[in-house]
Amino acid sequence: MKVLGIETSCDETGVAIFDEHDGLISDLLYSQVELHQKYGGVVPELASRDHIRKTIPMISQALEESGTTPEDIDAVAYTCGPGLVGALLVGASIGKSLALAWGVPALGIHHMEGHLLAVRLKPDPPAYPFVALLISGGHTQLLSCEGPGSYQLLGESQDDAAGEAFDKVAKMLGLNYPGGPAIAQLALTGDNNRFKFPRPMTNRPGLDFSFSGLKTHTMNTIHDLEPASDQDRADIAVAFQTAVVDTIRIKCERALEHTGLRTLVVAGGVSANVELREKLRVVEKKLSCEIHYPAADLCTDNGAMIAYAGFERINSGQTEDLSINVRPRWPMTELPGMGRNQVPNP
Ligand code: KG4
Ligand code: ZN
Repeated sequence: MKVLGIETSCDETGVAIFDEHDGLISDLLYSQVELHQKYGGVVPELASRDHIRKTIPMISQALEESGTTPEDIDAVAYTCGPGLVGALLVGASIGKSLALAWGVPALGIHHMEGHLLAVRLKPDPPAYPFVALLISGGHTQLLSCEGPGSYQLLGESQDDAAGEAFDKVAKMLGLNYPGGPAIAQLALTGDNNRFKFPRPMTNRPGLDFSFSGLKTHTMNTIHDLEPASDQDRADIAVAFQTAVVDTIRIKCERALEHTGLRTLVVAGGVSANVELREKLRVVEKKLSCEIHYPAADLCTDNGAMIAYAGFERINSGQTEDLSINVRPRWPMTELPGMGRNQVPNP
């Protein structure tokens, strides 16, 4: 089976083809970062328009470079949500139209499930059950993953997602969007002994997160130092990154202890953070558990994860009708399991 995957939920156009036997035979990514940079964040209408320009030429390119013709494609998977409504509609309309024209099924994929399942594209994927930490620009959640498509929410952010906090603090520090990599870079020259920022919601039980207070604390620190020197900004960047990473580390440890599970999968854009990976290595040793990440280039948004998640779901017998629907808000726990003949996607 060959599945064409289309990702257009935010500011990256991703197109990939997953082949059941040969793996990823094409994986193309176009980032709109430059388009949004001068606004300090993603402008939804500009994102939709750019997806319209890019998606079809990228599909042609993916077919061409993999030596595949439309007749070889067995199914089309597109990101159905969560994400920006206009951006999602571009991928959904193109995906559904092509599937109809080619006489193959189309299936809407949950973006965060795509992030999670990207880990299964690695040669030695983790076995269920496991705990998943999904950390992106829009989500921060801990899930207990009992089997394919079976997810229980353990905890989530009550306000900003971790990636969103990185992006907003980066803006305060005068750094470019996306803020995560920019803060990680600036933090390298910071003095980590100068400030100790709070680790929100760690001194009470539970697995929820909150990053907005930490963001305000960071903003107040910047204001107190005004005008902040380059060294001040680096010291703040490292204090902020350490606080986020440490908070996540504490919650992951707690989730593993609470569930008794000994495998953790970490996915989503923030999982690319090197400091986070170092901190989680300590948990791995302390709790004798295994931590799995998707391949480095599949941590942030991409089409490969959508093609692969589409393959798993279509292979499990999931189908949907011809209507074009997107779900800008869509809890992952509402997904059907992946046994055969499960209820179709809404
Ligand atoms: O998963 P993703 O590509 O898109 C969403 O689904 O949101 O995640 C993007 C987020 C952004 O907030 C970005 O700042 C963050 O991931 N990010 C990072 C790093 N690389 C990307 N955050 C911290 N450290 C990084 N190295
Ligand atoms: Zn994402």
